[in-house]
Amino acid sequence: MKVEMTQQSRLKDIDFNNLPFGKNMSDHMLVCHFKNGAWQEPEIRPYGQLEFSYGLHALHYGQSAFEGMKAYRKDNGAVSMFRPLDNFARLNKSAERLMIPQIPEHVFMEGLSKLLELDQAWIPKTEDHSLYIRPFVFASSEFIAARQSDDYTFCIITSPVGPYYNGSVKVKIEQEFSRAASGGIGYTKAAGNYGGAFYPTSKAIEEGYNQVIWTDHKEHKYIEESGTMNLMLLVDGVFLTPPLTDRILAGVTRRSIIQLIKDQGWPLEERPITVEELVMAAREGKLQEAFGMGTAAVVSQIDTIGYNGENFSIPVPENGKAMDIKKLLTDIRMGRSEDCYGWMMDLPISSK
Ligand code: COI
Repeated sequence: MKVEMTQQSRLKDIDFNNLPFGKNMSDHMLVCHFKNGAWQEPEIRPYGQLEFSYGLHALHYGQSAFEGMKAYRKDNGAVSMFRPLDNFARLNKSAERLMIPQIPEHVFMEGLSKLLELDQAWIPKTEDHSLYIRPFVFASSEFIAARQSDDYTFCIITSPVGPYYNGSVKVKIEQEFSRAASGGIGYTKAAGNYGGAFYPTSKAIEEGYNQVIWTDHKEHKYIEESGTMNLMLLVDGVFLTPPLTDRILAGVTRRSIIQLIKDQGWPLEERPITVEELVMAAREGKLQEAFGMGTAAVVSQIDTIGYNGENFSIPVPENGKAMDIKKLLTDIRMGRSEDCYGWMMDLPISSK
């Protein structure tokens, strides 16, 4: 792999005590082009500017997908990635649906490992901080005929981050707009799934919420995801989460948390949950906790659920189940407890 090192690191300009999500990009990035029907040699180069014409296909038709994953600096100094192969598999699932050629595993994994080795000083050491990794792939032919692109570009950029939300979140049950429809691309991390969510989300923000809880596109009867997170409820001592469909993103954090909950012996049901059931549980005080699960958001407690102009307060206990789960996950990520699932992938590099 060709590696071009930056001549001027920007690391010294970064205030690690103030890390707005995804704003500070690390020094290097991975770039790999797909041309003439084949992936070319990947290269690592200084983070920089895109060089394409205004006919760039992805800008016109949104044939583009991304991933979100994290690397940690463990307590023993090791640099470790959380379930990178799961994100790799999901990126290729998105790619398949969007007619983007499959990305070879060695391009993804070797590129990522080399990138983390070079930019390991960018991995924050503070609690609840990590290096957010953003692999993405986009259609990079320069034509505007409405058909799939011939050329593609795969990149990985990284950014040191702290907690995504500042405290607990307020969510509104969305009754008008939809994030995804059956047969569509809701289960992928297509760029357009996020672009389409900004308008409804901004309306919710205007009303004093942070995010929406998406409901099914047909009847707005069943709850699906919350913003960019999967949703978990604790009702009467039982964890509840909607089952995966082709409208819901199969979160790696969701899957990990489900495993942790099951292994604690706590009751969990993965089943359709109606808005009515959720509102009733909240009204009757049976909704003990609610939280979002995601790579960026990790475990984000929900303190308010809004429905039809009515707000329901949800307890956000400091030593409740959501925080227990967050600790179980954090302990594995930081190497404080045994990783009996094999989720962490340490890089074979010496710590700096
Ligand atoms: C992630 O958790 O990685 C996401 O996809 C959220 C991101 C859109 C900020």
